[in-house]
Amino acid sequence: MLDALNAIAQPAPAATGAISRHDYRPPAWLVPETRLVFDLDPAATRVTATLSVTRNDASGDPLRLDGAGQRPLAVRVDGVAIDDWRIEGEQLVVPLAGDAHTIETEVEIAPERNTQLMGLYASGGILCTQCEAEGFRRITYFPDRPDVLSRYAVRMVADAARYPVLLANGDPVAAGTLDDGRHWAEWNDPFPKPSYLFALVAGDLAVNRGQFTTQSGRGVDLGIWVRAGDVEKTRHALHALELAMAWDERVYGREYDLDVFNIVAVDDFNFGAMENKGLNIFNSRYILADPDTATDYDYDAIAAVVAHEYFHNWSGNRITCRDWFQLSLKEGFTVYRDQGFSADQGSAAVKRIEDVRGLRAAQFPEDAGPLAHPVRPESYIEIGNFYTATIYNKGAELIRMMATILGPQAFRAATDLYFTRFDGTAATCEDFVACMEEASGRDLTQFRLWYSQAGTPRVAASLSHQAGDGRATLRLAQHVPATPGQPDKQPMVLPLRIRVFGAETGRALGDEQLVLLDEAASTIVFDGITERPVLSVNRGFSAPVIIESDRSAADLAFLSAHDDDPFARYEAMQQLMLDTLVATTIEGRPDNDAVITAVANTLDDRTLDPAFVAEAVLLPSEGFIGDQLAMVDPEAIFRAREGLRRALGLRLADRWRDAYERAPDGPYVYSPAAKGHRRLRSVALGYIAASGADDAATIAFRQFERADNMTDRQGALGTLANGYSDEREAALDIFYHRYAGNSLVIDKWFQTQALSSRDDTGRLVADLARHPDFTLANPNRARALVGAFGANQRAFNAADGSGYRFLADQLIALDKLNPQTAAKLLPPLARWRRFDSDRAALMRGALERIVATPGLSKDVFEQASKSLG
Ligand code: ARG
Ligand code: ZN
Repeated sequence: MLDALNAIAQPAPAATGAISRHDYRPPAWLVPETRLVFDLDPAATRVTATLSVTRNDASGDPLRLDGAGQRPLAVRVDGVAIDDWRIEGEQLVVPLAGDAHTIETEVEIAPERNTQLMGLYASGGILCTQCEAEGFRRITYFPDRPDVLSRYAVRMVADAARYPVLLANGDPVAAGTLDDGRHWAEWNDPFPKPSYLFALVAGDLAVNRGQFTTQSGRGVDLGIWVRAGDVEKTRHALHALELAMAWDERVYGREYDLDVFNIVAVDDFNFGAMENKGLNIFNSRYILADPDTATDYDYDAIAAVVAHEYFHNWSGNRITCRDWFQLSLKEGFTVYRDQGFSADQGSAAVKRIEDVRGLRAAQFPEDAGPLAHPVRPESYIEIGNFYTATIYNKGAELIRMMATILGPQAFRAATDLYFTRFDGTAATCEDFVACMEEASGRDLTQFRLWYSQAGTPRVAASLSHQAGDGRATLRLAQHVPATPGQPDKQPMVLPLRIRVFGAETGRALGDEQLVLLDEAASTIVFDGITERPVLSVNRGFSAPVIIESDRSAADLAFLSAHDDDPFARYEAMQQLMLDTLVATTIEGRPDNDAVITAVANTLDDRTLDPAFVAEAVLLPSEGFIGDQLAMVDPEAIFRAREGLRRALGLRLADRWRDAYERAPDGPYVYSPAAKGHRRLRSVALGYIAASGADDAATIAFRQFERADNMTDRQGALGTLANGYSDEREAALDIFYHRYAGNSLVIDKWFQTQALSSRDDTGRLVADLARHPDFTLANPNRARALVGAFGANQRAFNAADGSGYRFLADQLIALDKLNPQTAAKLLPPLARWRRFDSDRAALMRGALERIVATPGLSKDVFEQASKSLG
């Protein structure tokens, strides 16, 4: 079902040149005003664009407007039709004599045939747009680059019965009906914006309305627009929006600037959500929630994404990016802001643990593989491939490090300066760092290497005790590994929060220090060390690095019980578990005692927050264990981890039962405390099952049946799905029928099975790909099955290569519909260098087959060819 228009839209990979950061030139023409008229129809939408253009340099260049997949039906200059325009590549080139003109173009596009979900497309009867990064050119001809800021006036005309609601950016200014059953609406956005922030929505939508009064007294009408049956499920999102608006005023002094703020949820969406000015468009999974269908995890994610998109109004919209190499300017900063918001809603320690786990699961592997790139990349073939964990999450860590180095007051002064100085402009990462320097008086010259050098720094840390002198000496050495195109690295600035504890008394020996390691190696001396010292380093994960320390299992166990920094306590436990699991994987002879004792002590410490305990007693993932090893043996890792889970389950059986029973009963409440109890209960259930207890399936099935909320229900289903009991089949069946037709919940049904640790998961997943409810046309569904399967290290890396073949088949099929989402499924294949030669050959074979596919998109071509290296 390849869209005929796509043939024009996609240049052959061979013809695809990379774009370099150093080639940036300011635009030759600006577009101060844009007027768009949409005659909306799913099969044939007519778009008339009127651009006022002004020359911006002395080059005398013609006007070049980006397009993709369409042809101009008419081109007029200053009201007169011309025919000396030409098409070069995909650009419309218009020769212009003067310095200021009005250009009018007309095109026709077919939203219902747009399977890429970029530009104007249809999702479940709703017409909506997604323009970031380069979707606007699929709607009309325009200089589709983020440094061309224009004021937009939009008129939409559509069938009134099919599309009763018409929304666009900014404020509504006029509306009316026509006598042919159609109606129209006009919206104006007073803020100049780049084309990637354009949005419109037309559909039969219901709204949940709210009101917010800003700190200066502006009344804002809030609206969350969804299908009629879903309004009840938008309460949590609306509440999160109100909290986020107040938080940004309080913490960053940022106030909303329009009279309306609308959010629309659609089911078909390539990523999480989009911050279009005044009209955010969301993947429905980040809006819709009620206790029966959404987990605590979903509730948290909804609040985080709603806040993220809202925060973009300042960090992204009021100040945008000069070019796409600066993407982390808005994304890294906005992730940092949404992390701060979420931390303030509950346990900051647990939030930090979750964020670091996410960084290690997604960003560290990226940094260690063939797709590694700096936070500010040097080149790309397809910018859609650079919406990565490095740009987003490592980018957020860079902001966090600057905040740590500056301290809260100087950091706030620096963000104030940034927002004031660059308001209304398209800025660079350099502009941001310069504000950090100017407001604080600190020199961040060397810190800038974090933007240009890829790879996760490794820090060797070793503490020795000179008992006679009452001293301890800490030796630190850093090493930044080579990454593609960057063989040699310079030392970076690493802010390391450090504290030393006494092994005998358990007391801290002195205060916490912030050490800025900015050389390859350095030595720090601690005085007044009267007992054997134990090192707590990179507390709070103050730098996104890998610590290599020589701390013994006993010292790590000690820290897991005594460190006063909750993150460091968690970290010590993780390191202890990881050391144990790596040793077992390599040597095959488990020595689990230290882990078991440390977990027992954590479970016994009733002063701890259950949410923290739940995180602390979880074993590192199979993928993370693999990342520690030069060669990943997925079966050995799985055996080692299952062995330790079973040992923990058996040796601490009473404690797991106790933790499981201890969680208070009662109706579902979404609160940090209630969430923590549910989480610990699910973790405890997992260990009861891992122990092989006879009644495990019975307990899980009882929880599944009695649950009044999705968190407990899915927790039980996940445990059952890993096993072979009759209860498993019953629960999957009940779950499926109970939620038939609710696509977000059916996604969970697919995903739970794709993540299963059963031996036959590969075969079951292949069967599920033929299930009538499976479709590649919906990105959430594709990710739920194929994406989750790629993250299942053991199943995906089956020795016979069946997992690789399956992924390649799905990816090739999806690429014909939706290149962006297809390209995002590829990274598991990029790990081939880390596997034995048989698996590596099979993975390369899959990549080569992908690259050889005729008509391949440049999105997938870039990822696959870089992965082959
Ligand atoms: N700016 C959006 C967000 O992070 C995401 C846009 C993703 N675009 C893309 N081409 N991958 O909030
Ligand atoms: Zn964002």
